[in-house]
Amino acid sequence: MQNEPFLTLKQIDEVADAVRARTKYQSKIGLILGSGLGGLADSIENPDFVPFSDLPYWPQSTAPGHIGRLVIGTLENQSVMVMQGRIHFYEGYSMSQVTLPIRVMQRLGIETLIVTNAAGGINPDYVPGDLMLITDNLNLVGMMGFNPLIGPNLDELGPRFPDMSQSYDRKLNEIARQAAREAGINLREGVYAGLSGPSFEGPADLRFLRAVGADAVGMSTVPEVIVARHGNTRVLGISGISNKANLDGNTVTTHQEVLEAGEHMVPKIIQILRIVLRKI
Ligand code: HPA
Repeated sequence: MQNEPFLTLKQIDEVADAVRARTKYQSKIGLILGSGLGGLADSIENPDFVPFSDLPYWPQSTAPGHIGRLVIGTLENQSVMVMQGRIHFYEGYSMSQVTLPIRVMQRLGIETLIVTNAAGGINPDYVPGDLMLITDNLNLVGMMGFNPLIGPNLDELGPRFPDMSQSYDRKLNEIARQAAREAGINLREGVYAGLSGPSFEGPADLRFLRAVGADAVGMSTVPEVIVARHGNTRVLGISGISNKANLDGNTVTTHQEVLEAGEHMVPKIIQILRIVLRKI
């Protein structure tokens, strides 16, 4: 059953202690790097590295293109804790394990979480290489019974029934819009649909997603954002559109193409993030 194991606050704090012992920084900002976007971590200055394998309870990143370590250092004079590689539900971990990094960040004092991902573009106007500010998401995996907050509520961290009316922080969104404008980068805005993967969507899946208002689709992010909001962490989300969703079934999607497109988008995303970090 993929809902279990549920991690306890004591276990989460053990992990937080293990991270604290490995770094001189006390970051207020967390950054999760999506598929093909791991290169963003190369911009972090004076980094401490903590491989996921050194941390108790922490799942290993098994997805190709996800290195699997924390890179903690500075960017634009802000201390940032970066997950170079993320954990996905399709790797077989429980939702509690998938979102453990967010819990640990919260216990370490992170107040702002920036999530990035590679996503398929469903909105017909989108082309590969576009960036999309995530203004809301469709919690499709949660609707199927895999909400990351299922299980004993960690009352010290947040309420049993948390509000999700503003998952993506309006002030941060405005800062990201300004940053993109200053950088001369076209930043689209839309709704991210979170599926479990690992199979890509078929044409009927994609027509369904389009009909229910999705602009982009991916296999991550939504559980992390729910847990972040449960603990009152502010969230900014940016999708890199790595491929055009194949609504007519005439093109093939591959992970290799997703990784390559991600690498091309790294310079644009880092430009926006640098400006965002200067403004928050
Ligand atoms: N579908 C799901 N996840 C993805 C895609 C896609 O087309 N592209 C990148 N991640």
